[in-house]
Parts: sequence; structure tokens; C-alpha cells
Amino acid sequence: MATTGYPGNLNAKTREFISSPRKILLNGHWVDAASGKTFDTLDPATGKVIISVAEGDREDIDRAVKAARAAFEDSPWSRMQPGQREKVMHRLADLMEENADVLAELESIDNGKNVAIARAVDIQLAIDTIRYMAGWPTKIMGSILPLSVPYAPDAKFFGYTLKEPVGVVGQIIPWNFPALMAAWKLGPALATGCTVILKPAEETPLSALYLGELICQAGIPDGVVNIVPGYGHTAGAALSAHPDVDKIAFTGSGEVGKIIVKAAADTMKKVSMELGGKSPAIILPDADLDIAIPGAASAIFFNQGQTCCAGSRLFVPDSLYDQVVDGLAAATATMKIGVGLNPENMINPLVSQIQFDRVMGYIDSGRREGAEVVAGGGRSGNEGYFVEPTLLCNTNREMKVVREEIFGPVLCVQRYSDVSDIASFANDTVYGLGASIWTRDVGNIINIIPKIKAGTVWVNCHNILDVVMPFGGYKQSGFGRELGKESLDLYLETKSVCIMA
Ligand code: NAI
Ligand code: MG
Repeated sequence: MATTGYPGNLNAKTREFISSPRKILLNGHWVDAASGKTFDTLDPATGKVIISVAEGDREDIDRAVKAARAAFEDSPWSRMQPGQREKVMHRLADLMEENADVLAELESIDNGKNVAIARAVDIQLAIDTIRYMAGWPTKIMGSILPLSVPYAPDAKFFGYTLKEPVGVVGQIIPWNFPALMAAWKLGPALATGCTVILKPAEETPLSALYLGELICQAGIPDGVVNIVPGYGHTAGAALSAHPDVDKIAFTGSGEVGKIIVKAAADTMKKVSMELGGKSPAIILPDADLDIAIPGAASAIFFNQGQTCCAGSRLFVPDSLYDQVVDGLAAATATMKIGVGLNPENMINPLVSQIQFDRVMGYIDSGRREGAEVVAGGGRSGNEGYFVEPTLLCNTNREMKVVREEIFGPVLCVQRYSDVSDIASFANDTVYGLGASIWTRDVGNIINIIPKIKAGTVWVNCHNILDVVMPFGGYKQSGFGRELGKESLDLYLETKSVCIMA
């Protein structure tokens, strides 16, 4: 029985959801894959199967695109009164709120993460995203253009712009924040009147599929949101190359991001990309270490380091180096490692065997390149994909662990002596997603922030996200901004209208 092994206090709805195979949401109905194939989604705490899921592939993507196209061209959604669309989206947010505990449990079982944090952060931000986006349909508007056509001075023109949905959108999301990434993608698409084919990550399909049930209950018309679980190289590739998809929104690895941009180029799809990072956390000599040390620890260890904006390169001035490293080592020693369903466990398993092997490989590479392993460095337990919170100290810019995204609970600590070098050290990466500065000096803040090439700069905090704050990358961390008003631009076309009176 699939649910064996889960605590008795698991929500009855969660238990029921994982007690039978899950399917594809196609045009408002739950269907098997055209091929009849399924894949298993695993619990990272044990490596055991939770349940099987329909394995969507090219044929299923094609059907989903047809449904989304029909829903876009004919359905009530893009033509529904904006006020009505808002009500339906608010209903979805209400349903998410009512089912927040279930969503958090599914997230914890499927991804491995702490259930209480999933409820307070992932699911709450997902609800906030849908609610914030629900406010937009009545506020998306074009503008009136004061034309003065130079070669027709005697004619009278009336010019204006219309904001129109971009159309059928393919959305491919990762496994690190499955429900939240679904909400970040679906929210602006729904607010603007687009229709969607969402492909969740093969590691973590469950919360998106549960969200699909809520989408049906909320009264979003059939075909507006289609959810096709499946693998990246099959379903994901078919979606990003499909000629009848107008836009692709992707969050995931830079490697796959590049493949998708190329696939999308043939039909000139609009593309937005939220890719990886190697975000610096910079402790300045005047920092308040009571805030900076726990802050730097949570910048990397939150979500086991599987966060695109994780503060994975820590810069510490010589003057504070020993104190900071000792403080971080002490902090890691207090972090309880264990299953995410127990909220006391602050370090939970990585998502998969593949990620576990990858992260352990990076730790070995760090050792070989001469990094000093001050804390952690090994596996925890002998079941599941647990990696100890790890401090690699005295690292330098040449090391692979400093240059590449590890996506695990591994912090690379670098020392520096001269503050005037710090922006160039921080920017010494192909990525540019986030950065944090830890200081009490407003002069430092004002001087350093403009020099940092990153989509978000935090001061005395890290990984803080809010639905009004645009999020996205400079450089190879991608393009386009999600959240906030900016995110709507990714899903809108502007039509200029010129009327000669
Ligand atoms: P990935 O980029 O392969 O997976 C993300 C999504 O892309 C999944 O839904 C996957 O099915 C899909 N995908 C994979 N290949 C595809 C293709 N050819 N065409 C279309 N879609 C495709 O990431 P993966 O392999 O799970 O993780 C590898 C590394 O990527 C991680 O170690 C981490 O460094 C980075 N990553 C970054 C994330 C972020 O939030 N920026 C999220 C996940 C991974
Ligand atoms: Mg899973």
C-alpha cells in the first residue's frame, strides 16, 4: 500500500491523493497517457515509491496544446469579463488556502522538504501569488497615444494600445519549489487571459496535480489549464518545440534553458527563463554578526541549498574570518537532519539519487581541490538522500565548487582583505540571480548595490521573496522578471491601434 510508513496524522485528503495513480489534466478531464505509460514518483526520505503518475509524451502534449488552443480561441476565459476572471482566481486562492495543509504535506512527501516550512513559505507564497495576480485582470490596460503624424498634418488620428494575452503558453517547472513555481507560472498567465500547458518536474508532480483538482473546482474553464506530467527530454522537449505554442516559460538548469531557447527559436516563441545561480553573500567588516552568521547559514541551508538564489558563495573579511567560520560551524551542528514530515528537522533529504550523487561529487571535488571541510561533508543516515550541511572553507575562484552551481547544502567560504574589490569578486560568475550584503553602513549599501550584477540584492537578509517584488536574473541566470507587475509583460502582447477620423 502506497501510504504505508506515513504518520497517522497525515491529512485524510493527502492520504487519499497518494492512494491511487495520478493522471494528466487534459481539457478539464483526468486521463491516462496516450501510451498508457506511467512513472513512479519517489519519497526522497526513503527512496521508496509514493505512487505512479501518467507519463505524458509528445502525443499528450499535442492533445494538451490542441485543448489549450481551442480554449484560447473560443473559451470564456480570455473573453470573460475581467472582474469575473478575478473572482474565479480568488476562488482558486481560497481553495488553495483551504487545502494548504494537504499541499504542504504533498510537497514534503514528494520533494522531501520540511512540512511546516512548506506550509509557511512555499504554499503561503503560492496562495499570495494567485491572490495578487487575481487583482490584475481589471487593471491591465493600454494607453491613449497623443499622435502627431508628421506627413499627414491635416488628418485627425486617434491612437491607443490594447494589451492582449500572448496566447497558448507552455510552462516547464523544476522540483525545488514545485507548488510555488506552478503558482508563479500560472498566476500571471491566468491574470492576462492566456491558456496553459504546465509540465511539472518528473521528480515532484504531486502538488501541481493536486492544484489541478483545485483549478477544476474553482471554475476555470476546461482546457485553460492542462497539466502534463512527464520527463523533460520527452514531454518537455515536445512542448518547447511545439509549433502552436506561443510562449515558453521555464525555470530550471541553464543547460536545459539553452536547449529550450534553441527549440523555441524555430517558431520564434516568446521565452522567459529563470535559471540557476551562484549567488554571493557578502559580509562587510562592520556587519552585525549576530544577524549575519545565522543569515548566511539560512541563505545556503534553506531548502537544503536547492534554491536558485541560495547564497552559495560567502565572502568574509580577514578580520572576521575565524569568528564567522566558527559561528557557521556551530550553527550547522545544531541543525537536526531528518524527514521533512517532522517539522523539527531543519535539514531534509535532497530531491533524488541523482541530486545526491551530484552534490556528493561536488564535495569530493572541493576536497580534491584543497578546500577545507570544516563541517559536514558526508551523507547522513543510510536511507534516503540526506547530505550533511557542509562548509567548504578557504575556497578560491579557481575551484569548481566556487564556479558551478552545486544546488545542495554546501557553502563555499572565501576570504577577502580589501572591500574595494568586493563587487568584482561578487560578480566573478556567469550567473546573476541574487546577492546579499551584510552591513550597518548606509554608505556601503549605496556604493555597492549599483556595482552588483544581480536581479535581486538583499541587505541584511537573503532569500526573501514577496509577490510584489520582481524576481529574475542578469547574465546566465536568465531573462524576464516573475512576480510583481513586471511578470504580466511576459504574458502580454501590445497591439497599437491607429484610427483616422
Ligand atoms: P532540469 O533543468 O533538467 O529540470 C527542470 C525542468 O526542465 C523539469 O521539468 C524537466 O523535466 C525539464 N526538462 C529537462 N530537460 C528538458 C528538455 N530537454 N526540454 C524541455 N524540458 C526539459 O534540472 P535538473 O536536471 O532537475 O537539475 C539539474 C541542476 O539544475 C540542479 O543541480 C541545479 O543546479 C539546476 N536547477 C536549477 C533550478 C532553479 O530553480 N533555477 C531548479 C532545478 C534545477
Ligand atoms: Mg518525488
